[in-house]
Amino acid sequence: MVRKHTRTKLYCVCQISVLILAVQGMVYFFFLDKPRLLKAGPRLEQGGTEVTYESLSPGLMLSGGGRLSVNLTQGRGKLVSLAPGQKRVERPQPLGPYEGPNQYYGKHSVKYQISAHKLEVEGANLHEFNYYMKPRGICDIQREVFLLIIIHSRPENFKNRNIIRKTWGSPEYFLVNGSRDSLVKTVFVLGLSLNNTIDARLDQENALYHDLIQEDYRDHYRNMTYKHMASFKWISQNCNNSKYVLKADDDVMADIFTVVRLLQHLPQAEKEKDFIMGAITTPSVYRKKNTQWYVTTEEYRDNTYQTYPMGLAYVTTTRAVNRMFRASLTTPFYWIDDVYVGILAAKVGGVNFRRINGKMALWFMGDIDKTFLKRGYYFAHLQSPGVHFTWTIFNRLLSREHVPSIKIPKK
Ligand SMILES: *[C@@H]1O[C@H](CO)[C@@H](O)[C@H](O)[C@H]1NC(C)=O
Ligand SMILES: *[C@@H]1O[C@H](CO)[C@@H](O)[C@H](O)[C@H]1NC(C)=O
Ligand SMILES: *[C@@H]1O[C@H](CO)[C@@H](O)[C@H](O)[C@H]1NC(C)=O
Ligand SMILES: *[C@@H]1O[C@H](CO)[C@@H](O)[C@H](O)[C@H]1NC(C)=O
Ligand SMILES: *[C@@H]1O[C@H](CO)[C@@H](O)[C@H](O)[C@H]1NC(C)=O
Repeated sequence: MVRKHTRTKLYCVCQISVLILAVQGMVYFFFLDKPRLLKAGPRLEQGGTEVTYESLSPGLMLSGGGRLSVNLTQGRGKLVSLAPGQKRVERPQPLGPYEGPNQYYGKHSVKYQISAHKLEVEGANLHEFNYYMKPRGICDIQREVFLLIIIHSRPENFKNRNIIRKTWGSPEYFLVNGSRDSLVKTVFVLGLSLNNTIDARLDQENALYHDLIQEDYRDHYRNMTYKHMASFKWISQNCNNSKYVLKADDDVMADIFTVVRLLQHLPQAEKEKDFIMGAITTPSVYRKKNTQWYVTTEEYRDNTYQTYPMGLAYVTTTRAVNRMFRASLTTPFYWIDDVYVGILAAKVGGVNFRRINGKMALWFMGDIDKTFLKRGYYFAHLQSPGVHFTWTIFNRLLSREHVPSIKIPKK
């Protein structure tokens, strides 16, 4: 009897242990699994070095060193010491204010306040470059800027910028009621050239026109997303008094008159909505190895992209730019910039894509000076062989608009 009783007890203990282990396993599985929710990303507000996370998904990963001060204002969480880059989750429990080295926190919908001197958040893409040059007299005015034209340029493309300044990017054709102020303003955004000769010329150029935005990332096609977010950041922080934004590359020709008229005559219902108008596409990911545009599955897992506007030119609202910039702060970097814009648009929602693919000449064709007006293009990608066509096409546009033509400089 005694022996049997002991055996039963042992059996029970065993069963309970197994149960406990199973529950523990589930708990660990449950919580260890959490970091995957990082994809959702925390909501992040940034102001100076103060960063606030609200309604945090469980499993926020902080790394990169620096010091943090944390205030858990709501919910429960567990603080776990970590070496930078390491990941670990433990059972949540109430958490008080914390100040110390960079740490990791986990728990459902908690509200943290974090001030950090240097902070890297997994899944985040804080755009923290310094300005070398900032424009002047563009949006620092009382009035609304109807259309802000932002041209993505390369430091060495002096010629392309000058052509745009004198043709379709000129404010001259949209002056407000005889004042010197225009409905349309143009700025150029570029990165660092790492070449003293070019830098010196850029300084001269900016002293003359005050229309360059330059931040301290290297200008490189792999850094295009930095450039795009540099535009979005500058617009969000300095050009909130603009209504629409036209993004274009510096080798693009635009029928700016038609585009402005189109925006001025948007149906009332459309005016309140955010949109992106351009060559809208949803292509497969380019997987051809050993090419410039090859994308690995580590870089982009799915085989199809989100819908996005092709980078040569698109028009959007300033409000959409604001919203997408904020979303970018918690959206992992992806190096193909127009694809990244599609990811942001999908994330913020409520941005309608307006296809004008048939109004865009995507590749340079030798007879573009003749076909541009005939086919009613809004935008043409002239590329380097064709930028000089801008002059002739623009003069044709002026003639259509009954505006005196401009003198075409000798090559
Ligand atoms: C945390 O919140 C408490 C109460 O609101 C406040 O007194 C304290 O200064 C905060 N600490 C930090 C590190 O923000
Ligand atoms: C131009 O002037 C007219 C008449 O003074 C005014 O009604 C109109 O709003 C002005 N246009 C702009 C764009 O300021
Ligand atoms: C810098 O740019 C100038 C002008 O484009 C070019 O002639 C020169 O070779 C460049 N220097 C270097 C080191 O790349
Ligand atoms: C992008 O810019 C960063 C910051 O200047 C630089 O460290 C990096 O090398 C650049 N990327 C490429 C591919 O040049
Ligand atoms: C810009 O204006 C919008 C709408 O008025 C506002 O929500 C947003 O916070 C402003 N952004 C900045 C950076 O001031």
